[in-house]
Amino acid sequence: MASSEFAVEMQDVVKQFVTPEGGILAAVNHVTMQIKENEFFSLLGPSGCGKTTSLRMIAGFELPTDGKILIHGKEMSQVPAFQRPVNTVFQQYALFPHMTVEQNIGFGLEMKGVSRAERIKRVGEALEMVRLPGMELRRPKQLSGGQQQRIALARALVNKPEVLLLDEPLGALDLKLRKEMQLELKTLQREVGITFIYVTHDQEEALTMSDRIAVMSKGVALQVDIPEAIYERPATKFVADFIGETNFLDGVVKGQNSSTVEIDLVGTGTVYVESSRKFTTGQQVTVAVRPEKLRLNNPDDKDNNLKGHVEEVIYIGTDTHYGVRFAGGHKARIREQNVTLAQKTLAKTGDEVTMSFTHTSPRILTE
Ligand SMILES: Nc1ncnc2c1ncn2[C@@H]1O[C@H](COP(=O)(O)OP(=O)(O)OP(=O)(O)O)[C@@H](O)[C@H]1O
Ligand SMILES: [Mg+2]
Repeated sequence: MASSEFAVEMQDVVKQFVTPEGGILAAVNHVTMQIKENEFFSLLGPSGCGKTTSLRMIAGFELPTDGKILIHGKEMSQVPAFQRPVNTVFQQYALFPHMTVEQNIGFGLEMKGVSRAERIKRVGEALEMVRLPGMELRRPKQLSGGQQQRIALARALVNKPEVLLLDEPLGALDLKLRKEMQLELKTLQREVGITFIYVTHDQEEALTMSDRIAVMSKGVALQVDIPEAIYERPATKFVADFIGETNFLDGVVKGQNSSTVEIDLVGTGTVYVESSRKFTTGQQVTVAVRPEKLRLNNPDDKDNNLKGHVEEVIYIGTDTHYGVRFAGGHKARIREQNVTLAQKTLAKTGDEVTMSFTHTSPRILTE
């Protein structure tokens, strides 16, 4: 095996499909990413962005139109799917209904000619890993949805893959079970020390489970980073919008004094935002700021004070959400935690308010 610090690398990978309508579609369009050993890496993006296609190329079910896939530093173009050190768990886990759990999990081993005694031992170990010991004789229909999913996982783990590919494996489960399985999968991944490449379109799932996330849109990986960076420092409007909630305030750069950028939110006011990037005077930008980083009527903020009026108040116990409209047509959503409610009265619909934020709260986005 060629050695590499990376479990999987995609190097400028392109996958084009000829569609039945006669067009050519770039399902994956020049994607480059490096997935580290033992990493929990997620591919996150909306339906049709190329997640499954990427996974299928890593697994060897599809070949790239262009670019390279490496596993542990070894180029894979000549290696068929069954010889790659990976296993896949699909959303439709497709257990064989007429076989027992033991036969389902041991099927691949049997095909490889592994002895019955060895099979029984390894199936037992795999069932321990997914916390279903002793279930060997059940058939799939005698198991709950969550248990079936665990069997599908055990069936992949029994082959001792170096990389496990998981394509929306929890998609068929209800929310509560899904949350439980998220924690279990994360724990299992840490225990067994296998690299996981996990496909999901659920941003919360990706944020809570992953070491790193690749956010994809239209076949392109827009940003690859740790969850905090994806949330706190989104690179583009798409990422800021897809992950959590974001207010976008359009403006024009008036000037920059070292790291402080002065931005005219036309008609609404002038704000100052910290950024390490260089901007040119007159440049069109978007100030992106999360609802929880905005403050209402906060006397501590000396600048970045924007006057508006409350259009909507939604009290939800732990928080209150406000919709505020400003002169110039800008709107923002503000989320305040109700920790100081005893001292402070809630703003009401129609109230004139001041919305403020610190220089470091927003991101300045240009694409
Ligand atoms: N065999 C194929 N032939 C033609 N087009 C395809 C083929 N497979 C996928 N596509 C197209 O490629 C694009 C990416 O598909 P893919 O299955 O990778 O998306 P996805 O991100 O997994 O979406 P979802 O979240 O809905 O599963 C889609 O527009 C899809 O229609
Ligand atoms: Mg898919």
